Amino acid sequence: MFPNHRPRRLRRTAALRRMVGETVLAPHQLVLPVFVKEGATEPVPIASMPGMVQHTRDSLRKAAVEAVAAGVGGIMVFGVPQTRDAVGSGGVDPDGILNVALRDLRAELGDDTVLMSDLCLDEFTDHGHCGVLDADGQVDNDATLAVYADMARAQADAGAHLVGPSGMMDGQVGVVREALDAAGHIDTGILAYSAKFASAFFGPFREAVESQLRGDRKTYQQDPGNVREALREVHLDLQEGADLVMVKPALAYLDVIRAVHEVSDVPVAAYQVSGEYAMVEAAAANGWLERERTIMETLTAIRRAGAEVILTYWATEAAGLLRRG
Ligand code: PBG
Repeated sequence: MFPNHRPRRLRRTAALRRMVGETVLAPHQLVLPVFVKEGATEPVPIASMPGMVQHTRDSLRKAAVEAVAAGVGGIMVFGVPQTRDAVGSGGVDPDGILNVALRDLRAELGDDTVLMSDLCLDEFTDHGHCGVLDADGQVDNDATLAVYADMARAQADAGAHLVGPSGMMDGQVGVVREALDAAGHIDTGILAYSAKFASAFFGPFREAVESQLRGDRKTYQQDPGNVREALREVHLDLQEGADLVMVKPALAYLDVIRAVHEVSDVPVAAYQVSGEYAMVEAAAANGWLERERTIMETLTAIRRAGAEVILTYWATEAAGLLRRG
């Protein structure tokens, strides 16, 4: 009798397929990134990310409560300030929008969800770079570290459980760890954006945070072709005290996620970024992709590659889909 090996036997019923499924995706592994706009009285739709908005403080609270009710594991907060300056003062100011929103959410949710904060200057600078500039207009690594230290303290004071240094400055994790410890925030963790690539997939995010950037971030974010360099960044961040390491973007970097998963002894996160979201939403709106199936397939693939935690703009919706099976 040929064929005598029949893998299709295990695919015959939904129950069989479910039982032998290798990749399990759970709502608590998903993190919802959110944008909150200073002074906004109504949520502002983000055209490049259909379905996403710049929240008011109030609508943010509601979206967070809804996410937690759906079973989402965490919230990552980005602030959109009303004014910007050369050194990104709004990020350090305890009354800056990001820190205010963190306090709102911690008061609302307590420890029911993992509250995370983007620790970067690009939303707060009038030149849009992730750090401060030197006299020649270049991003000044070590001067930026000093600002990140202040920002980390402010975010921990405001109630973040995990701060997320995402500027790709050398030494950022070590400096943040030291600053948190010195301020008594020994239990505030660091979600390190360890392998962050200079990616075209961040495009839609620029509108979401009203980025002022001209040019690119290639002097600090990584070249998309480099995986060994990503591992070097991961090793450095682990030495400097990262509690989780992250790869970003996700879908075009599944091999990097796998490689990081193999060397990391801390949990690995992956960020399904704005361009990944926009790409699927646009194709689905045209009827070219089945929206929900595509969303769940991308998340499953990122999990399969080795991410224990996934940041995704679909977190609330995907958590709901998972719960309904
Ligand atoms: C930096 C930051 C960016 C994103 C997350 N953190 C922008 C960038 O590095 O250019 C992009 C996220 C996304 O595209 O969804 N603060």
